[in-house]
Amino acid sequence: MARVIAVASGKGGTGKTTITANLGIALARLKQKVLLIDADVAMANLSLILGMQSSPITLHDVLLGEAQVHDAIYDGPEGVRFIPSGLSLDNYKRVDSERLAGVVSQLNDEYDFILLDVAAGIEKNVLSALSASQETLMVTMPTSPAIADALKTKIVAQRLGSKVIGVVINFVMSEKGEISKNDIANMLELPVYGNVPYDPEVRKSFMQEKVAPVIVRKPDCPASEEITRIASRITGLKSEPVKAKKSGFFEQLLSLFKKKK
Ligand SMILES: Nc1ncnc2c1ncn2[C@@H]1O[C@H](COP(=O)(O)OP(=O)(O)O)[C@@H](O)[C@H]1O
Ligand SMILES: [Mg+2]
Repeated sequence: MARVIAVASGKGGTGKTTITANLGIALARLKQKVLLIDADVAMANLSLILGMQSSPITLHDVLLGEAQVHDAIYDGPEGVRFIPSGLSLDNYKRVDSERLAGVVSQLNDEYDFILLDVAAGIEKNVLSALSASQETLMVTMPTSPAIADALKTKIVAQRLGSKVIGVVINFVMSEKGEISKNDIANMLELPVYGNVPYDPEVRKSFMQEKVAPVIVRKPDCPASEEITRIASRITGLKSEPVKAKKSGFFEQLLSLFKKKK
């Protein structure tokens, strides 16, 4: 049985697709059979980050009942397989995302990990992706708006029965005044699976003639190394995620967020 993990954030642009693609490859390097699904059916871009262009059959066709799921699975880098979403807006409007859970369950026996790249917000297709997963991994930036949105998404995921296992902090600049790892763990009441730095190499992946995820192109850059550690933490092979230590100030901030529930 696969571990089905939704990679979600609430806020857009936190790095969900980047983390999904690179984490998938890092898990494959740990000899895991990995399938990535672009569950962001409106703003599909997982296949672009993976450097794959041509995908005639997509998740849209499967959710529309017009194609078999196995015909929408493609080979990505380093043995990772993936299901892209379509780029057509017309098809997106007709897609029934509630079918996603059924699609995922057909593939459960074939993989060790199925990672869902979830859209931002809490629209219907986000709820469908969270419902289709057993576990959710949050991605946030170390900023208050991103953390507040992550908290909302965490609550929604839990209500839908997905176990929120932890948070990845992305775009870490280690600047003075930046919200710390420990404070984010406290605010979200989640273990921190990784602290991925802002790394120019991540953006450069798009500037090459042939686009490839940063972990393929630059496995030794700081972002790639941290994502590799996250994969080890998820598989339980190495170092536990960092747990929160409570501090007075952030208990107060947390109680502020909690009033929004
Ligand atoms: N750690 C990072 N350092 C630098 N740029 C990053 C990092 N993570 C993501 N990015 C860049 O930020 C942008 C948004 O990332 P993306 O993964 O598409 O976010 P989301 O899927 O949450 O909308 C992309 O251009 C990506 O290359
Ligand atoms: Mg995305």
